[in-house]
Formats: sequence, C-alpha cells, structure tokens
Amino acid sequence: MRLPVIAGNWKMHKTASEAAAFVDALRPTAERALNREIIIAAAFPALASAVRAADGTNIRISAQNLHWESQGAYTGEVSAGMLTAIGCTHVIIGHSERRQYFGETDGTVHLRTLAALESGLTPIVCVGETLDQREAGHTETVLREQFTAGVGQLETVQFEQLILAYEPVWAIGTGRTATPEIAEASHKLLRSLAVGRFGASAAAAVRILYGGSVKPSNFGELLTCENIDGGLVGGASLDPDSFAALVRT
Ligand code: PGA
Repeated sequence: MRLPVIAGNWKMHKTASEAAAFVDALRPTAERALNREIIIAAAFPALASAVRAADGTNIRISAQNLHWESQGAYTGEVSAGMLTAIGCTHVIIGHSERRQYFGETDGTVHLRTLAALESGLTPIVCVGETLDQREAGHTETVLREQFTAGVGQLETVQFEQLILAYEPVWAIGTGRTATPEIAEASHKLLRSLAVGRFGASAAAAVRILYGGSVKPSNFGELLTCENIDGGLVGGASLDPDSFAALVRT
C-alpha cells in the first residue's frame, strides 16, 4: 500500500508570517488526515517559520531546491545541511520551472538528489514533457531520458527513499489538467522504468505524484488511477481551504 501524498508547491509565494498562518489554519484538517502524507514546499525565507508552525503535527515542510555542495563560494545557494538544520524533511528537485528558467539539467538533478539523500532529506524529483514534445509524439522518449539520466543513476536503496513527480509542463499553471488517462499512461511508464532499473519491489513502493493544475474538483478522479499516488500542487495549494479540500480527498 502506498500512502498518498499531498504536496503543496508554493513557488515564490508567501512570506514567513503568511506561511505560519497557513499551517495553523491547516492543522485541524491535517490532524484528521491520518491516511495522507502532507507536505508544504515553502520559499527559503518562510521555511523556518513553517517548520515551527508545523511542529508536533503531521505536516512536513519541504524546500523547493538546494545546491549539491555542502558549503562554499556559491552565492545565492542553499545546501542540504542548511535545510535539515532548520527542520526541513523534503526538497523538490528538477521542477520544470527550474529546468526552464534556471538551467537545471538531468545531470544537476542527479547531483542535487544525491546531496539531499546524503543529508536525509526526501527528494521529490520532477519529470515531465513540454507541449511541443507531447505534440511531436516524444513524451515517452523524454520521460525515459529524464528518468534514466536523473533518478536512474541512483542505487536501489537510494531510489527507495525518494518521491517521483510527473508534471507535464503544458499542464502547469495553465488550468489544463492532464486527463486521468493521459496522466496514468505516463505514471505507468515511469513505474515500468523503475521496475526495469530497480526491480519490482522498489518500483511497487515508490510514490509517483501527478502535478499540473490539480484542483479539488479533479483530484479525486486522478487519485483513483492505479499508478497515481498523490499530487504536487501549485496554484490550488495557496489557499488553505482549497489545500484542505485536497487533503480530505
Ligand atoms: P499548478 O503547479 O498546480 O499551479 O499547475 C504545479 C507545480 O508546478 O508543481
């Protein structure tokens, strides 16, 4: 049985005090949702206050990126050890916005994933095709390449500790959610790639989240798909009522 994950990706939204207020508001719903893993990925300056607000609850706090070195002359970067020191438990890696705007590659996804795992952070590693790639019929090739060059480089024991996220770029922030059939086909492909690389038991255990215009109105149907184990949610995670509705789904 894979415990479903509801992960909010706040992107560049919410200050430290807004994050704390949100977590306080979510707390009663979270406490009743024992069959869900609840994660909030806040911006760096809001992480510490989100962790404090979530103390003693089942809400886990995630970063949205990290650098692979433990320290050094990397202006503007944050290391895994800095994140664990303030109580973060998860980190998103390889989000398409990082790939698109900040030069993230499958190679740097791999380095960041290793750094996260070495520090005991759970990586949430994102893959997904663009609209052009989908329309050219290249979805499978793209996912295969991202998987192979990214998480496919890990050892099985490392792979067993992470969460995967399938986020078709054309569905992110566009209101254009993948249909359950389209999403499930990609999730199934990713799980079969995991079987080939890491074996049936590791592949059966890994959670694969869907991301891209998830809302309370479409999440239930997505969650019924065999290989969809939760959601990585941007826009609909910003409002406590809508995020609580997702947690209750
Ligand atoms: P969205 O973003 O839910 O706003 O489409 C999802 C994501 O980018 O993780």
